[in-house]
Amino acid sequence: MDTSDVTSTVGDLEAQNMKLKKSPPFSLERFHISEDYGFLLPDPLKELSDYYMPWMEIAYNLPVMIESHQLRVRVDVMPLLSCHLLKGHKEQYLAHLLLSSITMGYVWQEGENNIPKVLPRNLALPLVEVSRTLGLPPILVHSDLVLANWKKKDPDGPLEIRNLDTIVSLPGGESLKGFILVTLLVEKAAVPGIKALAQAINAVLQPSDDDLLQALKQLKTSIAEMTKALRQMHDYVDPAIFYAAIRIFLSGWKDNPAIPEGLIYEGVSEEPLKYSGGSAAQSTVFHAFDELLGVCHSKESTTFLHRMREYMPPSHRAFIEEVHSAPSLREYILSSGSCLLCEAYNQCVATLAELRSYHISIVAKYILTGAAKAKDGGLGHLPGPPQALAERGTGGTTVFCFLRSVRDTTLGRIIDPSD
Ligand code: HEM
Repeated sequence: MDTSDVTSTVGDLEAQNMKLKKSPPFSLERFHISEDYGFLLPDPLKELSDYYMPWMEIAYNLPVMIESHQLRVRVDVMPLLSCHLLKGHKEQYLAHLLLSSITMGYVWQEGENNIPKVLPRNLALPLVEVSRTLGLPPILVHSDLVLANWKKKDPDGPLEIRNLDTIVSLPGGESLKGFILVTLLVEKAAVPGIKALAQAINAVLQPSDDDLLQALKQLKTSIAEMTKALRQMHDYVDPAIFYAAIRIFLSGWKDNPAIPEGLIYEGVSEEPLKYSGGSAAQSTVFHAFDELLGVCHSKESTTFLHRMREYMPPSHRAFIEEVHSAPSLREYILSSGSCLLCEAYNQCVATLAELRSYHISIVAKYILTGAAKAKDGGLGHLPGPPQALAERGTGGTTVFCFLRSVRDTTLGRIIDPSD
């Protein structure tokens, strides 16, 4: 070997080392998380190929078909289609959104009366097939209703509520749209926080207190922006409509006294299957922030929250696991002895607890006040409020105990500087 070969090998190694140092070890890309949209599916597809027209014709007209009690009749004569012609993950996500929304309408068309025991095979088989491909359960989940269910009215316009619409709707009119789109804006407000989370982990792995401080400040601002986005719920969602019309269509068939045995998916299993309903407890954002900040909830809350992780896309679930297995941010800050880092960490924790407190006030308004208003007013054409869910969330937990416990455990992680 001549000396020029040796020089070039050493040069290559140095270049490689520089690259390794430059590219941070923890990246969002690996988990299919968008730098611009976070966990939202960027620019979801709005239509499938003509072969899938029978699904689209039903899914795009769900409110009318449900309100006129025609949906079950239409689904019963729907042809059995195969999922083999679905190309790529965007088509598969849209198919899951269409089929799971049809399923919610089919089950809850008559409210809590006359609930079917069986989901017919022409709906059950493709729903289960596409669910297996995506690693999602065969029911409507947060990633269907919110993450993959949006379009811009003006494609060049901003991601603001006035320029947004849903792809698939269920009963509840403008209030349902508001509920979905405000939740989407909370997810969007979390995007700088998700990037800050990655920066914080990298700043612990390749220690840099300056980077860490900056990341924590960005995280705190992003969580505060999420609370601001959540406030818009009041402007767009009517509590009586939420309570009486929307909630039931998000309900599942696990721990739900209205449908205690679960649901038979015809052609899939002879035994009834049980799945929780759609809930923003399935949003990856809160789980990831908890893991980063070292917030561990009570055993009971953790059981529910971890179950909700099974309702997330597998790559998002893997992201939470990766955050969990990263070196502890809290331990790093405690052992650094830095008052600045400690203060910045505490602000993140306090702001997350404030977001949770604000969420509790929203739940109180939409479930308690909504119940009172729905009783007074009545919404004639809709199936009526779900009795079995009166005291419980769509995911089936004793709501307020759970939510307060989760908020208080968050607050409990504040580091006392005198310790
Ligand atoms: C009208 C609006 C809302 C209502 C009535 C509501 C209701 C509920 C209920 C009943 C639960 C208990 C768990 C369950 O049974 O599913 C819950 C949990 C949760 N919700 Fe909401 N929610 C609303 C909006 C949102 C939004 C917009 C977000 C954020 C994207 C959100 C995030 C969460 C989270 C993360 C949990 C799990 C508990 C926690 O980590 O603090 N919710 N919600």
